[in-house]
Amino acid sequence: MHLEPEQQAVLNGESGQAMAMVMKTLVLYGKALGAKRLIPVKSAHLAGSFGAFTYHAYYRIIDQLVAEGIKFKVPTTVNPRPGHNLKLLNRLYFSKQKYLDTQLSALGVIPSYSCVCYEKANVPEFGDRLAWAESSAVQFANSVVGARTNRNSVLMELFSAITGLTPEFGFLLDENRLGNVMIKLDIKNMDSCALGFIIGKKVVDQVPVIEHYSFTHKELKCMGAAMAASGGIALYHVEGLTPEAPDLQSVFDSQPETTITITQADIDGIRTKHLENVNVVAFGCPQMTLEDVKELAHHFIGKRVKVPTWFNMIPADKENLSQTDLYDKLHDSGVEIYDHCPTAALEVQIRRKKVLTNSGKMYYYLQGSEYAKLEDCLRVCGVEG
Ligand code: F3S
Repeated sequence: MHLEPEQQAVLNGESGQAMAMVMKTLVLYGKALGAKRLIPVKSAHLAGSFGAFTYHAYYRIIDQLVAEGIKFKVPTTVNPRPGHNLKLLNRLYFSKQKYLDTQLSALGVIPSYSCVCYEKANVPEFGDRLAWAESSAVQFANSVVGARTNRNSVLMELFSAITGLTPEFGFLLDENRLGNVMIKLDIKNMDSCALGFIIGKKVVDQVPVIEHYSFTHKELKCMGAAMAASGGIALYHVEGLTPEAPDLQSVFDSQPETTITITQADIDGIRTKHLENVNVVAFGCPQMTLEDVKELAHHFIGKRVKVPTWFNMIPADKENLSQTDLYDKLHDSGVEIYDHCPTAALEVQIRRKKVLTNSGKMYYYLQGSEYAKLEDCLRVCGVEG
């Protein structure tokens, strides 16, 4: 791999032992994946936000960086906290949370604690080079914005944040951003979260191109998060909607390698038929914005939920919501409003209990969860209509 003289100097240890280790790791990672050089990134987003007591190696590395006074070189946001203070079990499992928050702060993190960094805290533009982890954010940046990032792992985005560099391979290169698989839709009632879940299962790690449908911003967000969870997809296109797919000619090299049709029966097949004995209904995976909450709130106002109901929000937006009377109205209806990652919180807290979600991502990751469309989630909450 070609290194600029200043990069070689860091590798040689001229900026200290920890920086040399960081550079060496990035170079080896890049070489393994065929990168010819390191390129600058505009921002980083960290997924290593959970203070689980078991992450000893991660903490050792961070300690070394902090001890040498290293700071992030580019704006760097961070994923949600895991609901570390909810119940005794959460407190025990995530007992390193305060320590991790302190160390990330020492490195200079922007304390966004949100997986939808692209909404407000770390907003990318078309063509930006990024070093992001968090598969749902990677998906959104690549697909909906047209920025460029690989789906980095926890340590790689940390090291890119420190150096401001990432190895150039994968989705940073034009040739890897073309589509492979054409997705045809035979769906009467669109459910983008379920569609994303099915695409992830079928397409796995290729680049799907979905035939034109006027998905909303929120639908794109939920669909991308689901396909990045049930599969390893980091980039999708929607014909005539997302920025790199003005038409099919632009997005396929010549022809799709495969064409898949997804039907209403496929969508219906992942929805649960068992809406009884639900212990929690969880909304907000990815996290909700203030606007998302306002859109959903009217179902709840003046009513009382029949089962525990969670809204999981961006922390800054939860703070803004708490300044309004909508917060009190939702509270009066029994909605519990949180600002962590509900999937992590529930994974520790709710063993052998049933969680109902309209998030394809939560459905994939959370044991004991069942998927339902929004209307059925509202029905179980007792606030439909
Ligand atoms: Fe975000 Fe946690 Fe879901 S990080 S996308 S709320 S699994």
